[in-house]
Amino acid sequence: MTFTPRVFSGIKPSGDLHLGNYLGAIRRFVPMQDTHDCIYCVVDMHAITVWQDPAELRRWTLELTAAYLAAGLDPKRTILFNQSQVYQHAELAWIFNCVARMGWMNRMTQWKDKAGKNAEAQSVGLFAYPALMAADILLYKATHVPVGEDQKQHLELTRDIAQKFNNDFSASIAAHGLDADYFPLTEPVITGAATRVRSLRDGAKKMSKSESSSDMATIYLMDDADMIAKKIKKAKSDPEPLPSEEVGLKERPEADNLVGIFAALSDRTKADVLSEFGGQGFGAFKPALADLAVSVLGPMAAEMRRYVSDPAEIERILGDGATRAGAIAEQTMAEVRKIIGFVR
Ligand code: TYM
Repeated sequence: MTFTPRVFSGIKPSGDLHLGNYLGAIRRFVPMQDTHDCIYCVVDMHAITVWQDPAELRRWTLELTAAYLAAGLDPKRTILFNQSQVYQHAELAWIFNCVARMGWMNRMTQWKDKAGKNAEAQSVGLFAYPALMAADILLYKATHVPVGEDQKQHLELTRDIAQKFNNDFSASIAAHGLDADYFPLTEPVITGAATRVRSLRDGAKKMSKSESSSDMATIYLMDDADMIAKKIKKAKSDPEPLPSEEVGLKERPEADNLVGIFAALSDRTKADVLSEFGGQGFGAFKPALADLAVSVLGPMAAEMRRYVSDPAEIERILGDGATRAGAIAEQTMAEVRKIIGFVR
């Protein structure tokens, strides 16, 4: 069967949004609205796999929705909603908990990183998280999932779960007259110059909500122009001039990162950026990058503030999106319940 191309992606409302979320995900969601049927989610149920203060969870949910809107997601063309309003996510996640194997979850590098040596003290939800992520995607039979590089392994697991479900229930799927490849094998879309934005202070680490080596390590979407310029000025670099070709960025993670950020913010390739700045030092490159970052992020932050000042409108948009998402989700679940043999 050929599936209608459909995009699904989500972001956790679990901290202040940063440049990695923007360049690795949100910015790339926007043009897909012209080519695909798109569903973008605020995955609040994923956020609570680690402790969230309830008031903060609410604030971050509104702020993330504001960022989606400010970046250019159009709630008329695209479905924007928060996960907890569509209960079918939890329902399908439970079924996938029973399809996925412990060993698969145990191999997830994000689980290993987050749980560290203290796995016993983590929530069961954190361990089972990838099954919920698979449910998010497969509930809508999404074919394409734009994400940053750190989500690649979770998307491979989503394919494994789809495949095992299709195999385990093949007889029942056929008996109900449904297509043998009931769930699609979703394609990750990990493209562009900034699929792994690194910390500005340590090129070995990814930029993240929790990168704590320094408060200069992460650019937040709500940072003001002075703060953005200051963080870029203080970003770790090296004494060499920029190379003229991309191969010259190998073994220079900090330089590679800054060039990647420049490229992604201006919708160019790294090669193109280097053809302009090759041979120049960071003394010239950093001010150009700071100007560019401020020119892109400044207006977006202003738009975010405007949306955040009207929470009722954001709630209305999320509610409308949840109704539309819920209608698709229920179609899938009506089939899945029959496939499994649940009596209704
Ligand atoms: P989350 O909330 O950690 O991150 C949201 C998105 O931002 C990307 N990202 C980055 N991209 C480039 N450089 C970085 N430094 C960087 N940091 C974060 C992530 O790759 C992601 O695309 N499990 C997911 C949320 C999720 C989801 C889904 C995604 C739940 N269900 C279904 C896609 C489809 C997560 O924790 O993302």
